[in-house]
Amino acid sequence: MRRKLIAGNWKMNTDRVTAVALAKSVAARAGEVSGVDLLVCPPNVYLYPVVQAVNGTAVRVGAQNMYHEPNGAFTGETSAAMLRDVGAKFVILGHSERRHILGESDDDVNRKTLAALAAELVPIVCVGELLEEREAGRTAEVIRRQFTGSLADVSEEQVQRLVIAYEPVWAIGTGKVATPDQAEEVHADLRSLLVERYNEKIAGRVRILYGGSVKASNAGDLLAKPNVDGALVGGASLKTDEFLGIALAGAAV
Ligand code: PGA
Repeated sequence: MRRKLIAGNWKMNTDRVTAVALAKSVAARAGEVSGVDLLVCPPNVYLYPVVQAVNGTAVRVGAQNMYHEPNGAFTGETSAAMLRDVGAKFVILGHSERRHILGESDDDVNRKTLAALAAELVPIVCVGELLEEREAGRTAEVIRRQFTGSLADVSEEQVQRLVIAYEPVWAIGTGKVATPDQAEEVHADLRSLLVERYNEKIAGRVRILYGGSVKASNAGDLLAKPNVDGALVGGASLKTDEFLGIALAGAAV
C-alpha cells in the first residue's frame, strides 16, 4: 500500500513573512489528516525559516530545484548538500516550468536526479506532455522518452527512494484539470514503464503524483484512482484551506 503524498509547490511566490505563516498554518492543521504525507516546497531562500516553522510536526519541506554539482564555480546555483543542510528532505526536479521556460533537458534532470539520490534527498521527478503533443496522440511516447531520459542509471535501490509526478503541461496553472481517467491512463503507463525497467514489486512501491490544477473540489476523484498516489499542487497550495482540503480528500480514499 502506497501512502499518499500531498506536495505543495509554492513556485516563486510568498515572502519571508507569508511563507512562514503559511507553513505554520499548514503544520497547525496537519493533525487533521492521517495516513497522508504532507510536503511544502517554498522558494530556496525561505527553506530554512520554513523548516524551522514546521519543526516537530509531520510536515516535510522540499526545494523546487537544485544543481547537480556538489560545489564549485557555479554562480547562483544550489547543491543537494546545501538543501539537506538547511533541512530539506525532498526536491522537485524537471518541473515543466524548468523544462520549458528555463530550458532543462532530460539529461539535466537525470544528472540532478542522480545527485539528489546520492545526497539522500527524495527527488520528485516531473514528466508531462504539451497540449500539441496530446492532440497529436503522442502522450505515451513523450512520457516514455522523459521517463527513460530522466531516470537513466537510477538503480533498483534508488528508484524506491524517488517519487514521479505526472503533470500534463496544458493542465498546469490553467484551471483545466486532467480527468481522473486521463490521469490514470498515464499513471498506469508510468507504472508499466517501471515494471519493464525494474520489476513488479519495485514498481508497486514507487509513488506517482498527479499535478495540474488540483484543488480540494477535484482531488477526491483523482486520488481515488488506483495509480494516483498523491498530488503536486501549485496555486491551491498557497491557501491552507485548499491544501488541507486536498490532503483530507487523499486521506478519505
Ligand atoms: P497548479 O500547478 O496546481 O497551479 O496547476 C501545479 C504544478 O505546477 O506543480
